[in-house]
Amino acid sequence: MDVQIRPCGSADEVKQAISPITHYFGRSAPNDDYAERLIRVLPAERVYGAWEDGRAVGGLGAFPFCLTIPGGRVAAAGVTVAGVLPTHRRRGLLRAMMRDLLDACHRRGEPVAYLWATEDTIYGRFGFGLASFTAEIDLPRERSAFHAPFAASERARLVPLAAAEEYLAPIYDRVAAVTPGMFARSSAWWQARILADPDWRRGRDGDLQCAVLEHGGQPTAYALYRMNWGFERGLQSGSVTVIEAIGESPEAMRGIWRYLLDIDWMARVKAWLLPLDHPLLLLLAEPRRLGLSLRDGVWVRVLDVKTALSARLYQDRGSVIIEVIDEFCPWNAGRWRVGSGGVDRTDDAPHLRCDITALGSVYLGGFTWTQLLRALRVEEVAPGAVTHADGVFQVGSAPWCPEIF
Ligand SMILES: CC(C)(COP(=O)(O)OP(=O)(O)OC[C@H]1O[C@@H](n2cnc3c(N)ncnc32)[C@H](O)[C@@H]1OP(=O)(O)O)[C@@H](O)C(=O)NCCC(=O)NCCS
Repeated sequence: MDVQIRPCGSADEVKQAISPITHYFGRSAPNDDYAERLIRVLPAERVYGAWEDGRAVGGLGAFPFCLTIPGGRVAAAGVTVAGVLPTHRRRGLLRAMMRDLLDACHRRGEPVAYLWATEDTIYGRFGFGLASFTAEIDLPRERSAFHAPFAASERARLVPLAAAEEYLAPIYDRVAAVTPGMFARSSAWWQARILADPDWRRGRDGDLQCAVLEHGGQPTAYALYRMNWGFERGLQSGSVTVIEAIGESPEAMRGIWRYLLDIDWMARVKAWLLPLDHPLLLLLAEPRRLGLSLRDGVWVRVLDVKTALSARLYQDRGSVIIEVIDEFCPWNAGRWRVGSGGVDRTDDAPHLRCDITALGSVYLGGFTWTQLLRALRVEEVAPGAVTHADGVFQVGSAPWCPEIF
């Protein structure tokens, strides 16, 4: 192959390495504004290019994330901008870039990688397992009554985007610290990614709006949203698109969603990237009206079994011995005793046998061992081991990653 795989050495090279993915968005070159914002949060040495005659024909990068997992946080590679030009597809370039990128993450001590997949057939071969679901809603506003009326004690106010970080970041931090799937956001991330409102991001929607909910003078929830107004024969036909609505208590979540559902002129409220156990399902009198649909959420790759699994919480119900098969990262292969007493290699007989993708699926708590067994993705070597493992790995809530990176 006369194509060389190597990391970028400059912001200009990053711009070239992301041009293969932007090709699929119909652009001959990356939009300058998009590239500049990306470069602020994605160090050049974490972006790999496939270079041919001085030109990038493929690219793959990894944000340096601090990812919340059940009971803790780990350094994680947020894999992004995967693209290979149609002229060079299916020659092994993604595989070669993934090899170098995951090896570098492993060397740096990042025990986990995770990503959003545009196609669900791509990443299983590299050891990524489906780790969460994401839900989408499209609710007619006139059917949005809650099951029980409440007297709001909170007040909402609109905050200009330029001043929003100081209100939003503390709320997000408190929620992200205890929500598996969320990652910590730096100030650069807030400014470059979340609160930026360039024209190219808007589509047909209006400006990015920010509402903050306060209780006793303290911010407890916020919503970022866009409105798309319209009237047909005099009747409202527009919608609110919720980009992100986060509250730090059940009351704060109820309050911010009531705010969003009560915006006049809007016929519908739409949102996506919601967790499977979102409170709206039980807050609404008519949850069927949500039109809730599910699809695959994030995919997790356990890069270092010992470090990744040691950082996770387990119920105090003994341990389970898992024999792991991992062809792409063979240092993980073998038998591991996993439980609240620690995670260690063992020669003892295994209770379960599975591919590394299964560990990715249970890692954030998005799937149970029972679900994996039903799909023939784990072998129960010792009778009853799956039920026992479910008790050990049990978590209280579904993972949630509120943004595609
Ligand atoms: C997805 C993409 C990056 C793959 O790049 P590539 O260089 O063609 O991939 P490789 O040649 O390294 O393929 C590696 C393996 O993945 C498989 N594969 C790659 N893309 C696939 C796809 N879209 N669907 C199913 N299998 C795929 C290959 O068949 C190959 O299988 P093998 O290991 O059994 O031989 C490229 O097709 C692309 O840019 N697609 C459009 C943008 C995109 O979807 N990016 C992903 C963003 S999350």
